[in-house]
Amino acid sequence: MTAALHVVILAAGKGTRMRSALPKVLQPLGGRPMLSHVLERARSLSPSTISVVIGHQADRVRATVAADDLRFIEQAEQKGTGHAVSLALDGQEPQGRVLVLYGDVPLIPPEDLEACLEATADLVVLGAEVPDPRGYGRLVEHPPGHLEGIVEERDADAAQQRIRRINTGILCAPVEHLQRWLAQGEAEADRRAGEWYLTDVVAAARAEGRPVVLAMSATPEAVLGVNDRLQLAGQERLFQRGQAERCLRAGLTLADPDRFDLRGELDFGEDCLVDLNVVLEGTVRLGDRVRIGPGCRLRDVVVEDDAQIDAYSVLDSCAVGPGSRVGPFARLRPGARLEAGAAVGNFVEMKNATLGPGAKANHLSYLGDAEVGARANIGAGTITCNYDGANKHRTRIGADAFIGSNSALVAPVTVGDGATIGAGTVLTRDAPPTALTLSRAPQRTLDQWQRPRKTARQADDPGDTGDPEP
Ligand code: UD1
Ligand code: CA
Repeated sequence: MTAALHVVILAAGKGTRMRSALPKVLQPLGGRPMLSHVLERARSLSPSTISVVIGHQADRVRATVAADDLRFIEQAEQKGTGHAVSLALDGQEPQGRVLVLYGDVPLIPPEDLEACLEATADLVVLGAEVPDPRGYGRLVEHPPGHLEGIVEERDADAAQQRIRRINTGILCAPVEHLQRWLAQGEAEADRRAGEWYLTDVVAAARAEGRPVVLAMSATPEAVLGVNDRLQLAGQERLFQRGQAERCLRAGLTLADPDRFDLRGELDFGEDCLVDLNVVLEGTVRLGDRVRIGPGCRLRDVVVEDDAQIDAYSVLDSCAVGPGSRVGPFARLRPGARLEAGAAVGNFVEMKNATLGPGAKANHLSYLGDAEVGARANIGAGTITCNYDGANKHRTRIGADAFIGSNSALVAPVTVGDGATIGAGTVLTRDAPPTALTLSRAPQRTLDQWQRPRKTARQADDPGDTGDPEP
């Protein structure tokens, strides 16, 4: 029987170098906190326990990731990674082994974790060879391949600074040994009058003659810690590149995998195309043959077969029916719904509104709290006046209705099936079906009217711009 596995995740630090009011482990990566990526990795190992060491803004971190399978340990004062792990192991039964993960190493590949767990040694340390080791603890090997110790950058001499094999921070050891080695590390920290390093356990294990194994990561860029926003941006690109590759392999066309951001879940059918700089958030579902133009943002959206979202449209919590057309430059807010073959064009905003099958609002409109029937045509500049300053009211537009340009429909109001509303109407009462309804000041022509003329002096004045006098 394999020994019980206890995962300890270090997440108590402030992350000073981020210069942020948000704790480092809550900084978003791919649209969710870094720490939630680490938790996902931890859960994939089905461990017996997962302990999360929290400290800086502990309540906020706890509230963000709280779940029944997590044990939170408060580290009131951040005295170092060694201190953090020792708190987590305080009072722990000696059976089983511990895997230490870091809240600021979010993309640790599952293969690396498996390699750590499969190695037969008392202490397994995950290392990585990187082109730029600055900021990380260096692996001191003697002879090569045999880990003698880890020196933190601030303690490293010039020769050690040049070592390009770094400590990822991730390690695995039996509970009882780790507890003992950590206690030795505390004494060392006191002697140094400094931080209590987790990394000191390597020297402690070696001093006891225990076997120590160095496992080297197969994908060094994925095990790098995030200490500042430059490193966060680096891990974000790496994460997004991985998402893009998964989508491409699953049959999605991406105009450029380096200009695609998925910050949630995406589901798609056959022959969909996503153009440049599209951002997808929450849960997005695309049917077959859906096309999304450049620069669009979709959050929690369902787009059905053959629908097309044109450039620079913003869609949030809405549904686009089969064969519908949206944009360019459209905004669909929560509760917007297009049924089959409906169309929304440039500078049209919809909120809590439905366009029936084949209905169209092609230009410059606001449709809020409205139901538009099948095949109705909403002219340019039409506004549903849904808000009286205190309450929201609904507008109902029947099937085959035609709303002339620049009409204001003052809700609550109903336009009957097949009704026509004349351009420029301010509709304050219901319009009956089939008839023409309009509200418009009668047009007049004044034959005797004279346009004002400039005087000779005004016409000669070189400073005269032609603008009317104030
Ligand atoms: C640590 C390692 C370093 C390694 C690097 C890899 C030590 C002493 N150094 O350095 O060898 O190369 O990670 O990314 O371990 N934390 C706590 N409590 C504390 C201190 C830290 O929970 O008292 C948490 C932090 O929130 C963070 C993690 O531990 O998630 C690492 O701490 P950090 O200060 O970032 O360590 P590094 O300087 O990066
Ligand atoms: Ca770090």
